[in-house]
Amino acid sequence: MSSLIQTKNVRKSVNELKNGMEGLLKSVKNGLLISGTLSSPRKKETPTLKLSIRPVVIKKKNLYQISKYSKSQVTHCNITPEECVHLIEGAIPNLFQQGIFTSSSTYYHILVNKNEQMTIVEKNIETKPAKKEHNRTKNYLFQEGIPVPFLISLGIMNDNGTIIAKKYDKFRQINRFIEMVDDVISHLPINDSKPLEVVDFGCGKASLTFALYHYFTHIKGKTVHITGLDLKKEVIEKCQALADALGYTTLKFLIGDISQHEHQGKIDLVISLHACNTATDAAIDKAVDWNAEVILCVPCCQQELYNQVHNPSLDTLLRHGILKERFAAIATDALRAELLTTLGYDVQVLEFIDMEHTPKNLLIRAVKGNSEAQRQQAQKRLLSFKKELFHKF
Ligand SMILES: C[S@@+](CC[C@H](N)C(=O)[O-])C[C@H]1O[C@@H](n2cnc3c(N)ncnc32)[C@H](O)[C@@H]1O
Repeated sequence: MSSLIQTKNVRKSVNELKNGMEGLLKSVKNGLLISGTLSSPRKKETPTLKLSIRPVVIKKKNLYQISKYSKSQVTHCNITPEECVHLIEGAIPNLFQQGIFTSSSTYYHILVNKNEQMTIVEKNIETKPAKKEHNRTKNYLFQEGIPVPFLISLGIMNDNGTIIAKKYDKFRQINRFIEMVDDVISHLPINDSKPLEVVDFGCGKASLTFALYHYFTHIKGKTVHITGLDLKKEVIEKCQALADALGYTTLKFLIGDISQHEHQGKIDLVISLHACNTATDAAIDKAVDWNAEVILCVPCCQQELYNQVHNPSLDTLLRHGILKERFAAIATDALRAELLTTLGYDVQVLEFIDMEHTPKNLLIRAVKGNSEAQRQQAQKRLLSFKKELFHKF
């Protein structure tokens, strides 16, 4: 069930606001809030840019940890559920124009616009067993009808949360990608006190990077540092401007080549989606060097192996350009998956989105931590596959 409450003037509608927030505040009080973010300060000169809320248990007490973001630092404090109720009541609409909250059963999105009109969207998100039917809309993390600021800014949905018709494929792709991240969340240090460190190589216009930030920050209540890297200066400048406008303070965009990118310290998650040709391999190389817990990549326009494949017993296949191209692409992905297995990752190759939208639809999902025996078997398979593929060996 979803409900929409709209008022004309915030100052005249505090009571209506309180009514609309009743369910939310009850969840906070009962310790059922999973995550919350208050962002978009009403006054530009305010020192606090954002507050995020997540539940913590300290000395067997259920508390909420509040992270307070200013321009130059993040501070944390722990408060009781009652104090958290007062904090939210005092902060919205007086201090912030946006609040996004997820409780165990409901997603709340509160928006106060420039004309002081207020919208509260409330959506039931009770988890139901996944349906095997083709239409997956009901399980989407981002749902039509719930306005999400970055999707609006990217022109994927309008202010009411309606998906723009020609952007529907992108919307599905974003959801599918986040679903795949959600599947491996237990392999990421989500419960550590340290922020999660993520790099998106070849981020392009970064719709998936913004989705990732929203997912970790607003849905999971986890502080995340994300770097989006791309060769294109103009695209990166636009992405950074959008991140700043949205108040996504720990989402940074850099211009650069993947193979030249340096980072000190741990990276937990590396993604590289549709980065061209061997850019995917440069991304995998960096991820392995950093000992990343999870690697997600969707390779694209893979030409590298095309001129190297040679095996007379495969001539029936290789004599046709298009078949050779597809075979080389699949063989490249098989090599990547096997190589990652030899390097200590559990690897799955999954269909990213329906074939009807793009033939470049395979996602390699690698999660750190296989056994010595698996690594040795992979090593054997890899050698024999290479021998067959490049017959000259
Ligand atoms: C097809 S776009 C994909 C964008 C985004 N990841 C997505 O899936 O929507 C590929 C991007 O990879 C970038 N790219 C390709 N090679 C790169 C490299 N060596 N270093 C950094 N970026 C690269 C391109 O500039 C381009 O923006």
